[in-house]
Amino acid sequence: MNTKPAEPTKKIKVWDLPLRLFHWLLLIAVAAAFITIWAQSARNLHMLAGYCVLALLLFRLVWGFIGGYHARFFNFVKGPTGVLTYLGTLRAGMHDPTKTGHNALGALSVLAMLLSLLFQAVSGLFNHDDDLNEGPLRKFVSDSVADKIHDAHEINQWIILALIVLHIGAIVFYRFVKKDNLITPMITGSKALPADSSTESATGGNVLLGAIVFAVAAGVVWYVVTRF
Ligand code: HEM
Ligand code: HEM
Repeated sequence: MNTKPAEPTKKIKVWDLPLRLFHWLLLIAVAAAFITIWAQSARNLHMLAGYCVLALLLFRLVWGFIGGYHARFFNFVKGPTGVLTYLGTLRAGMHDPTKTGHNALGALSVLAMLLSLLFQAVSGLFNHDDDLNEGPLRKFVSDSVADKIHDAHEINQWIILALIVLHIGAIVFYRFVKKDNLITPMITGSKALPADSSTESATGGNVLLGAIVFAVAAGVVWYVVTRF
């Protein structure tokens, strides 16, 4: 019988609760925006899902400056040298699963997802269909600008879908090829590492502060949607 003792581990905090809630709510809202577009009668629900995406993204923008350590843009956005260095370590088979937070390459896809979703949600505010449904800001742009925005809203959906496929593909790659489970920390907030690992728990990410920032973000979207 194999009696090899289990290696002692310690739990390291990775993602704060507001960031995790942001992630899973974003997934639900984006999925809802894509599903509801299939039924003409559900256009109001599509717009509602879009407003939720917008509020979540406004929250994330602010959280990128005052959130937990790994949520802060300055702590994960690296220049081209950082990305090339990380690519080199990945190719050399030296990915280190005890490192936490976004790696330099993942950071690029995170930014691309956030920006393309922001573009989609904002362009939606000016969008319209042939059935009298229109975003709350449609009346502020001319017909020709509205048509261009309409086309951009349609084309950008493919960029978003491609980024989501890439995102899920990367997570599966790390899980099965690099033996690094990224999903559990995004659910529980923490990761079990060998007890002698030098990686430290992420600090910051106060839940009350997160709730306040989200309430303000939702208020701003609500104001734009109802007042104009
Ligand atoms: C509509 C679909 C999805 C969208 C738009 C999305 C978006 C994002 C974004 C924006 C981040 C960065 C978090 C941040 O710092 O703001 C992220 C990270 C992450 N997502 Fe998703 N996600 C989606 C689906 C999924 C699914 C289905 C899974 C799991 C199977 C998943 C697992 C993760 C994990 C594990 C991370 C952290 C990656 C890391 O450790 O660097 N996501 N996602
Ligand atoms: C990130 C959030 C959003 C996503 C992922 C999204 C996605 C989509 C998609 C995939 C379509 C179908 C395009 C086509 O193939 O014709 C569409 C159409 C539309 N969207 Fe959005 N959208 C979002 C936000 C919004 C918002 C906030 C509004 C308005 C307040 C909006 C208003 C519309 C309208 C009116 C159409 C119909 C255009 C037509 O029938 O030609 N969207 N959206």
